[in-house]
Amino acid sequence: MPFQVVPATGAVLQQVLDDTFSLWNDGLSRDNYGKAWAAQLKTPWGSTHLDRVALVDGPHVVSSAKRYDLSLRLDGRNRRCLGIGAVFTAPAYRGRGGGRELLTRMLEAAVAEGQEFAMLFSEIAPAFYERLDFVPVPLAEWTIEVDQKRGGAPAMLVRSGDDRDLHNIVEMSAKRAEGARLALDRSEDFVKFGISRKRLLSGFSPAATRDTEFLVVEEGHQAVAYLVCTSIDGRWIIEEAGDRDPAGARLGAMLQVMLARTPGERLPEIRAWWPHALVPPQLRVAASTSTQEVLMIRPLKDRMLPLPPLAAEEVVYWHADYF
Ligand SMILES: CC(C)(COP(=O)(O)OP(=O)(O)OC[C@H]1O[C@@H](n2cnc3c(N)ncnc32)[C@H](O)[C@@H]1OP(=O)(O)O)[C@@H](O)C(=O)NCCC(=O)NCCS
Repeated sequence: MPFQVVPATGAVLQQVLDDTFSLWNDGLSRDNYGKAWAAQLKTPWGSTHLDRVALVDGPHVVSSAKRYDLSLRLDGRNRRCLGIGAVFTAPAYRGRGGGRELLTRMLEAAVAEGQEFAMLFSEIAPAFYERLDFVPVPLAEWTIEVDQKRGGAPAMLVRSGDDRDLHNIVEMSAKRAEGARLALDRSEDFVKFGISRKRLLSGFSPAATRDTEFLVVEEGHQAVAYLVCTSIDGRWIIEEAGDRDPAGARLGAMLQVMLARTPGERLPEIRAWWPHALVPPQLRVAASTSTQEVLMIRPLKDRMLPLPPLAAEEVVYWHADYF
C-alpha cells in the first residue's frame, strides 16, 4: 500500500510529538511540549491557519511537518504562502524518500488550495530543499548594543502591551513592510498568535528559565512604539518591535528603560532580526551574521515566475515570525 498523507491528530499526533520532542522541545517537558502545541491550535489564528500533517505507512508514521497558511508581501503584492516547519522523518525510515514525498504532496495540496508560494526555515544543509526548487533568502541577525543613558532611564512611560494595542502594532508593521521587497503581511490575529506562542513557551518552561515581555509606549491613548522581547540565560532576543517615528528614537529609549530596571546586573547580549532601515540613535550594531536557520522560498503556481534575487536589506522578517 502506498504511503498516505493524513492530518496529524489523535494517535498519529502523539507519535509525531514523541518523535520530534528530543529535537524541538525548547527546554519543555514532554507533557508541556504537547500542551504548548495544543494551545497554539486554540488561538484564533492557529485554529484556522496552522496544522500538522503526516505521511503514514499503515499504522507507522514515516514523516511529518507543520503547515502555516501565511500572507506574504512580495514585491508589493500580497500572496498566500505555505509555511512549512518541523519536517521530520522517523529514524527507521530515513533515506527512503519519505521526507521528499511528504514535501512534494504538501506543495501539490498548497497549489490546489490557491497558495502561490512556499517558505521554510532550513536547519540542515539547504541542498535537500534546493532539490525541491527552494532558494535561500538572505536574512541577518544583529547583535545590538544600547547606549546606556547617563543619569538614569529616560522619563518615558512604558507599560505592558495588550489586545487594544494590536491595531497600532499592525499599522507599524505594515508601514515598515512598505519599504521591503519581502515581508509578512501581519494581521491582528497573526501578531497575537506570535506573542501568545512566545508567552506559552515561556509559561510552560521550567521556572525562571525563559521570560517574554510585551511592552508599549503610549501617547494620546495610542501605542506609538512597542517591543516583544524574550530573555533566556542572560540573552535577549527582540522578537519584534516598532516605532511610529521612522528614526525609532522611542524604541531605543524603551531598551534603555528596560536595561535601567536592573542596573547592577551584567548587561544582556541583545540579538534581533532587525530591519536594516531601522536603527534607533541609541543603538549600535556590534555584529551582523546570517541567521542560523536559512529562510528559503519557492513559487508554487507559476514555476517560471521570476523572483529576482533578494538582498538582506530588502527583507523585513522578525524573529517572532520564525516557524
Ligand atoms: C531531513 C530529514 C527530514 C530527511 O528525511 P528523509 O525521509 O530521510 O529524506 P529523503 O529520504 O526524502 O531524502 C534523503 C535526502 O535528505 C538528505 N538529508 C538527510 N538529512 C540531512 C541533513 N541533516 N542535512 C542535509 N541533507 C540531509 C540526505 O542526504 C538525502 O539525500 P540523497 O537523496 O542525496 O542521499 C530527516 O533526515 C530528519 O528527520 N532529520 C531530523 C530532523 C531535521 O533536521 N529536519 C529538518 C528540519 S529543517
